[in-house]
Amino acid sequence: MNNLENKKILLIICGGVAAYKSLELIRLLKKRGASIKTILTNSASKFITPLSVTSLSQEKTYLDLFDFKNEAEMDHISLSRWSDIVLIAPATANTISKLSYGMSDDLASTIVLASDKKIFLAPAMNVRMWEHKANQENLNKLKNYGYKIIGPEIGDMACGEYGEGKMTEPNIIIERLELYFNKIKKNKKLKAIVTAGPTHEYIDPVRYITNKSSGKQGYEIAKSLCSNGFETTLISGPTNLKLDSEINFIKVTNADEMFKETLNHLPADVAIFSAAVSDWKIKNIANKKIKKNPEVNLKLETNIDILKYISNHNSLRPKLVIGFAAETDDVEMNAKKKLDEKNCDWIIANDVSDRTIGFGSDLNEVTIFYKNDEIEKITKMSKTLLAEKIVEKVISKFN
Ligand SMILES: Cc1cc2nc3c(=O)[nH]c(=O)nc-3n(C[C@H](O)[C@H](O)[C@H](O)COP(=O)(O)O)c2cc1C
Repeated sequence: MNNLENKKILLIICGGVAAYKSLELIRLLKKRGASIKTILTNSASKFITPLSVTSLSQEKTYLDLFDFKNEAEMDHISLSRWSDIVLIAPATANTISKLSYGMSDDLASTIVLASDKKIFLAPAMNVRMWEHKANQENLNKLKNYGYKIIGPEIGDMACGEYGEGKMTEPNIIIERLELYFNKIKKNKKLKAIVTAGPTHEYIDPVRYITNKSSGKQGYEIAKSLCSNGFETTLISGPTNLKLDSEINFIKVTNADEMFKETLNHLPADVAIFSAAVSDWKIKNIANKKIKKNPEVNLKLETNIDILKYISNHNSLRPKLVIGFAAETDDVEMNAKKKLDEKNCDWIIANDVSDRTIGFGSDLNEVTIFYKNDEIEKITKMSKTLLAEKIVEKVISKFN
């Protein structure tokens, strides 16, 4: 198996003793047929020379943010767009810290900030640097942005100390990249549908009933499915969020449209219903703005329950159906009830009465209720990282 053939890897080498190992990394990647473009940080060029890197990668080595001849080329953007993944090896404590703050004062950090690709880091540093709370907090931030961390390993260090902080060996880094590309190849056969955001149920041409859903969690799930190779459709109610172009993005306004578009995009292997679909719609939508009366009576009727309909459908039901439950009380009881009533495989429940998670927040803390009565709590983390965890669980169901 060689999943690295023809893959484009943008390698960033930082200024640490382990920089010399990255020469071996380039050699092994080339041997497997990958194309490699390399950036050396200023400090890295004190440890290894651009000439060695160029000789091994057979490509120009990039050094300085302002070093490109043709300014229209804009290397800091085009390099990131060119690559399939970005690999930072070794990643120094300094670069980890800079990336965690979104700094962009050199070519390497600017590219990472501008990147729309999966970013892998292989940290290497002294054990005390590694264990320092500041470094661990910085790494945590990066994990929450969805960056993948490889290693470091425990062992003897160049400085004479012993402990965790050695860069993972190049052949093991390559194994990790192989696994990543292999997973994507397998998932390419799978189709996913995600619904997200609120719905707007119009009362008259200018007013509507809605809820506080921002759509963030569903968008992150769609992004993670897509970056893991799934052919992904996101059916979204009105939100202010942006998406990558690879996702098939369907914008809808109300529950009826969301239902119709969901049907249009089936069959699928997995459907994740994270949208907060309004339970009700207005029975008779006024076609002119309702005048300001002291009292207005609105007649509501129930909307179709999209999750329940799809989950109970004999031929349309995807192999894996996942629902979300945003609850303000009795989370466990309500989630279990929903799991039964809707006949879905998992319910992902969160307590939206906690303002630090759920609607609008960048953080989430959920409990997954499985059909087989298992319950799994996932502690508070970014919606990006939670999406990755959910998608990993989805992938394990298909492999
Ligand atoms: C001899 C020497 C070895 C170093 N080794 C490491 C290392 O292994 N890991 C690390 O995080 N920093 C190491 N440093 C410190 C970095 O070089 C320094 O923080 C630098 O600013 C990193 O820049 P960069 O992140 O832009 O590559 C070393 C410095 C020297 C002088």
